[in-house]
Parts: sequence; structure tokens; C-alpha cells
Amino acid sequence: ARKIIIDTDPGQDDAVAILLALASEELEVLGICCVAGNVPLARTEENARKICELAGRREMRVFAGCDRPMQRALVTAEYVHGKTGLDGIALAPPTMPLESQHAVDFLIETLRKEPPGSVTLCTLGPLTNVATAFARAPDIIPRVAEIVAMGGAYFEVGNTTPAAEFNIYVDPQAAEIVFKSGVPLVVLPLDATHQVLTTRTRIEAFRALGTPVGQAVAAWTDFFERFDMAKYGSEGAPLHDPCVIAYLLKPELFEGRHINVEIETGSELTLGMTVADWWGVTDRPANAYFVGKADAAGFYALLTERLARL
Ligand code: BDR
Ligand code: CA
Repeated sequence: ARKIIIDTDPGQDDAVAILLALASEELEVLGICCVAGNVPLARTEENARKICELAGRREMRVFAGCDRPMQRALVTAEYVHGKTGLDGIALAPPTMPLESQHAVDFLIETLRKEPPGSVTLCTLGPLTNVATAFARAPDIIPRVAEIVAMGGAYFEVGNTTPAAEFNIYVDPQAAEIVFKSGVPLVVLPLDATHQVLTTRTRIEAFRALGTPVGQAVAAWTDFFERFDMAKYGSEGAPLHDPCVIAYLLKPELFEGRHINVEIETGSELTLGMTVADWWGVTDRPANAYFVGKADAAGFYALLTERLARL
């Protein structure tokens, strides 16, 4: 199995991504690192434990990481995800423990311990934990196999400001460190995630699983649809973060280009913009595989089939 660490700020779509990973035997989840993002850190780490318990995986190691971005004040998104970050269904408070080690120390220790090139980082939130680990322990950078990140946008531009996507906007300095790190990087931007929309039929398929997991995923996707459908006028809502895990399981569902992507950290107006050279108009070297297309039917078939295993 491929070893992964999930770095996340759950969030309903993060929750679905974590469940998809835990349901897939091709992936060995070494730990779940939490970061402040959609909601503050105290909520994201609690939510991550709730999700593990829902999946029947109380032995999973959950770590709390950075409680604020590297240089800016924290911006959260309760207006999308609700007060808890997992609004839509009430889950019991978790009883499994939170690890006492800081997520950044766990990242550093694990990357030093595991064979070089054997650990993939899956990032579903602001990049604060990963960038802090890279800044503190640059020796781990060449040991990372790959980073698969949900973040940024090109044609779909911003969902948080007119220019920026949430995960990059919250901590642009961290994103810059990661995008400049030289680690092989796959980016699932809004351009890809806005192609995998929840629909009535897809949500009903989750509910029809007839399990607590199916119930929760249906309730969560129902919940954040209300916001995104009004915002975009689309049929359903984009299920962003599970695209990262789906990419690892079935890369053939996605299509992108190796291009140069720079992060805007200077301008007030376009802070956190992923300046993606999609058309190759500069000679800046490629630093990311930037996904532009996703097979929605294939994605939902995979997701539903995997969730049925939990
Ligand atoms: C990203 O922002 C968060 O609200 C979601 O969980 C996802 O990671 C989408 O822009
Ligand atoms: Ca997220």
C-alpha cells in the first residue's frame, strides 16, 4: 500500500476525503494532521477524530498542528461549513485520544524515519503545517515522494476573493514555500473540483448505502449544497477534497498539464492567487501537475463503491 499522511481542516468535503482514504486498501494512512482553516484548530482536530470513529478506526493517529497561518491572521469559513465545520449531522463527541505530538513534529519525524520517496502528503487545507515542517527541517523536503494538494484555480479563479481559492488564500506564504519546494506536486484546483458536482441522484446513492457512513456523507453533502448552489447557480456542489484521494486511487479520472504555478503573496487585491501558466507563455519551469479535467461519473462511482466498504 502507498503510505500517505493526510493534512486537513475538516470540513465536510475533507471528511468525505478522509473516509475515502480509510476505505481504500491501496492507501496506508500513517496519520492525520490537522490545521486551522475552515474552522479553528480545536474544531478541526475534534472533527478528524469524529470522522475516524465514524469509520471504525479509533486506532488512527490524529495530530493537532498550526492554529494560525505563518504570517497572517486566520480566516475561517463557517459561512460554508457551519459552526462546527461538520454541520449537517450531529456526531457524538469523540472519545479516541488526540496525539500529544505536534503535527509538524510528526511530519518531520515520519519523513526522516520512512525510506526516502515513500511517503506522499495529501493536503486538503491551508498548507501551514507542511510549510512549517519544510522551513524547520529542510532535510525532509527531498524525502517526500509527492504532494497531492487541493487548492488554487485558473479558469475558475477565486471562491474566497475574486482572485483566490480558500486553501491558498488563508496561508499564501505557506503555499509559496510548498510550490517552490521542488517536491513533485499535483494540484487539484477549482477547475477540477467544480466538475465533480453533487446531484440529487448522487446524494441519494450515499443515503441508499444504509450505513452510518452513507447517512453522514448524504447529510454533509446536503448541507453544503445549500450554500454552493445559491452561489454558483449550479445543479450541485463541488466535492473538492475527495478529488485528492481519488487522484491517488485512479489518476486516469483526471487530466492536467505540467506547468509553472506561482503564488501571489504581495498584492492586497490578488493575494493567494495561483498564477498558473496554463498556456506556457513564460519560460518559467514547470513545478506542478495542474489538473483541469475530472471524470465526474467515474469519480462518484469510485467514491460510492468505496464508502460502501465502511
Ligand atoms: C477548499 O476550501 C475548503 O472550504 C474546502 O474544504 C476545500 O479544501 C475549497 O476551496
Ligand atoms: Ca479542506
